[in-house]
Amino acid sequence: MNTVKTVRELRAAVARARGEGKRIALVPTMGNLHAGHAALVAKAGQRADFVVASIFVNPLQFGPSEDLDKYPRTLAADQAKLLEAGCHLLFAPGVEEMYPDGMEGQTKVSVPGVSEGLCGGSRPGHFDGVATVVCKLLNMVQPDMALFGEKDFQQLAVIRKLVRDLNIPVQIFGEPTVRAEDGLALSSRNGYLNEDERARAPVIQRTLRQLADALRGGSRDFPALIDEARRQIEAAGLRVDYLEIREALGLRPANAGDKQVVLLAAAFLGNTRLIDNLPLQLD
Ligand code: PAF
Repeated sequence: MNTVKTVRELRAAVARARGEGKRIALVPTMGNLHAGHAALVAKAGQRADFVVASIFVNPLQFGPSEDLDKYPRTLAADQAKLLEAGCHLLFAPGVEEMYPDGMEGQTKVSVPGVSEGLCGGSRPGHFDGVATVVCKLLNMVQPDMALFGEKDFQQLAVIRKLVRDLNIPVQIFGEPTVRAEDGLALSSRNGYLNEDERARAPVIQRTLRQLADALRGGSRDFPALIDEARRQIEAAGLRVDYLEIREALGLRPANAGDKQVVLLAAAFLGNTRLIDNLPLQLD
């Protein structure tokens, strides 16, 4: 597995693979890789012949009071994990390479509708930063397909719309969330939790599962269900940022007749903000 840091080297390596008739997959990441990323890379290897991963901690998607500076940079460990998962090429650019005109001078992409509310409400500008960097990465690599985790459910909806609206010729795959045995969704941010917080964190997924059971059982009193779920998460000492039931495709607030819905939650454990979701089909 080669690691390249410039767009020029990246394009040359991808062109070689293309010349050999290979189908190209891209797995964009911010590094600090865990088993969820490894699963994405392994899946990419099944779907395509040549797997490109990117590692770039994108300053454009972090708010001024967020964890950009303390976000873990673990390149050597990440390279080992990518190699083991079957990655062929790693693109690990610096900020200068990605934003040569600086962040202010960078043309931005903004995806309306699905970016609003949920994480977009709590993190203003976040999805403009994600959409901009993903658009750039797709144009740099020009892969046949790109794979993202379903854990960032709203991000995936934003990227699907970005690709549709700007006619980017790429197939987007959302892959199921990888979880620890106790149900906690794997996330780089889990590393910020102390032992006590880590023990309490699975309450988010547990509560979403109970909410899903109630919906499957026919209950449609959304406000009462949400209140109860919130209470449960807060009883474990977390602070709920949002907890909502949305229609799964366009992410508008769900109504009682919707069949494909998704339960989405974000909550703070100390200073760490965790997100999770649970898509479900109602009959
Ligand atoms: O999900 C992530 O790791 C990031 O938001 C992404 C898609 C790599 C864009 O920076």
